[in-house]
Amino acid sequence: MLSKKVEAALNAQIETEAMSSQIYLAMASWAEVQGLGGIAAFLYRHSDEERVHALKLMKFVNERGGHAVVPALKQPAKDCKSIMDVFQTIFQHETKVTGEINKVVDLCLKEKDYTTHNFMQWYVSEQIEEERLARTLIDKLNLIGGDKGGLYLFDRDLQSVTGTSGGEGGGH
Ligand code: FEO
Repeated sequence: MLSKKVEAALNAQIETEAMSSQIYLAMASWAEVQGLGGIAAFLYRHSDEERVHALKLMKFVNERGGHAVVPALKQPAKDCKSIMDVFQTIFQHETKVTGEINKVVDLCLKEKDYTTHNFMQWYVSEQIEEERLARTLIDKLNLIGGDKGGLYLFDRDLQSVTGTSGGEGGGH
């Protein structure tokens, strides 16, 4: 059985994951409109992954005697300043999410909820991969600079870069 505090923290995390899904979906739409089909495909997949992260938490909360709440969400930003801005925003966002996950883990220890602590380890590993992937993509964009050919290849490569939740180790 979940304590009320842990249940509330997991519901807050469900909201964070659902909001992440919305943010990536908005970025995907922006990239698609810019004609960046590969980047858009990557972001649509990432949005789906975040929804899976939220669902996994919902199932866990309900299985443990809590009640997973579907959150109301804010409208994410419609436009991005640049492709670099997309990946920097992703990196900053994921760093923030990592901090939130760490707080949930910390609360589990305080509440002596070792089952939820164990469950949350999947999210801890996932965050390491997500931050690593975002950093790698920012490094690549820095190398490309203003080179159009480089951007073309970057977009093409992202068509097939897998996300991090598929157990494939995150990208290539
Ligand atoms: Fe669900 Fe991007 O972490």
